[in-house]
Amino acid sequence: MCTAVELQPIQVYQGSFDLESKIDECSLRDQDAAINICDLSSIVSKYNEWKRMMPSIMPYYAIKCNDELPILKTLGELGTGFDCASKTEIEHVLSLGFNSEKIIFANPMKSISHIQYAKANNVTDSTVDNEFEIYKIFKHYPESNVVVRFRSDANKALSLLGNKFGCNAEEDGAALMLLAKSLNVNVKGVSFHVGSGCGDLPAYERAICTGSRLYKTGNLIKHKMELFDIGGGFPGDDDEMFANISEIVNKSLSKYMSDVKAKIIAEPGRYFVSTAYTTICKIYSKRELRSRDGQLEKVMYYVNDGVYGTFNCILYEDIKIDTIHFKSPDSEKFSSLIWGPTCDACDKICDNVNLPNLKDGDFIAFPNMGAYTIPTSSAFNGFTLPKTRFYIRNDLKFL
Ligand SMILES: Cc1ncc(COP(=O)(O)O)c(C=O)c1O
Repeated sequence: MCTAVELQPIQVYQGSFDLESKIDECSLRDQDAAINICDLSSIVSKYNEWKRMMPSIMPYYAIKCNDELPILKTLGELGTGFDCASKTEIEHVLSLGFNSEKIIFANPMKSISHIQYAKANNVTDSTVDNEFEIYKIFKHYPESNVVVRFRSDANKALSLLGNKFGCNAEEDGAALMLLAKSLNVNVKGVSFHVGSGCGDLPAYERAICTGSRLYKTGNLIKHKMELFDIGGGFPGDDDEMFANISEIVNKSLSKYMSDVKAKIIAEPGRYFVSTAYTTICKIYSKRELRSRDGQLEKVMYYVNDGVYGTFNCILYEDIKIDTIHFKSPDSEKFSSLIWGPTCDACDKICDNVNLPNLKDGDFIAFPNMGAYTIPTSSAFNGFTLPKTRFYIRNDLKFL
């Protein structure tokens, strides 16, 4: 039903990844648009690390985070499943030749046409969090399985989801499972999402504890419970935090879930892709702000991508944007502000960064730009969005 797609080319490199040589290779000096450089090797390392830290948990990559096809292809070949939120995301996975069994339709609110598409393509598992969606599944895809999503928010996260999704596990969870039972719709499991970019370690233990009770309730109601889905929230660029989360997740699963049979899955997005991408921007204009006595107080740079493009994550997440310049590390630094290209004053990438005095035509690289950047960007004000160049190291070992 899905036609195969053509992947962007992937260049193979040897040794370490040299950003400056990539800039030369891309002939960026002659181009107007910025560019994203993606090192797929980073995704392979992340996958290997996931398997090392949480070997019993099968990751289903959340496509919403970055849906570029080489990412999906790499992850699928490594062995992840996919968390899809829509017909189009399902289509992406199938078009790459992956099996529908690898997909969880993890959007609790689904329009009928998307359910029909899932049905036509044999995507059998989807999340729900209220009675209307259970009735909808009963009407349009009764032979499928539902996973009851409950709310369990972190106290600190870059983006919380609980206001929008998730039933109250204690008050509504059992009722939803009983309703499904009465309609002969199978509840296959439970799921939660503590919030993207979770900064609250105990959030995972709280959610796993609540989830285990709901899962066991499903068993009592005689649903065929098989799936325990711990959602996303794992950091992309903080290895220590990831290690701490893995530890608490493993401990909590042993504590609360070891007495039941369940396939444990997660829906990481940011974790896999954040560090793989570096956005390379070119300075095309600058201004110097000076005090009355002529002292240089700040340099303002205008670059060819901004918050309406790849950097849109700045608008809805409280994230720190790092910069890399290519001048000598010893050059004198000045307080600098980097603006995006649109005629909008909120198009500001970062302020108070210390940079050497750069000039028109120089490049600034921004690392860790893979998550919630590309699918959400727009060409507002007529500025061209960056394309991605993909690379992979020649000697990669898949687990
Ligand atoms: C249902 C669902 N699963 C997984 C994710 C991925 O989350 P993260 O990127 O924090 O791992 C999201 C993102 O918000 C989501 O909505």
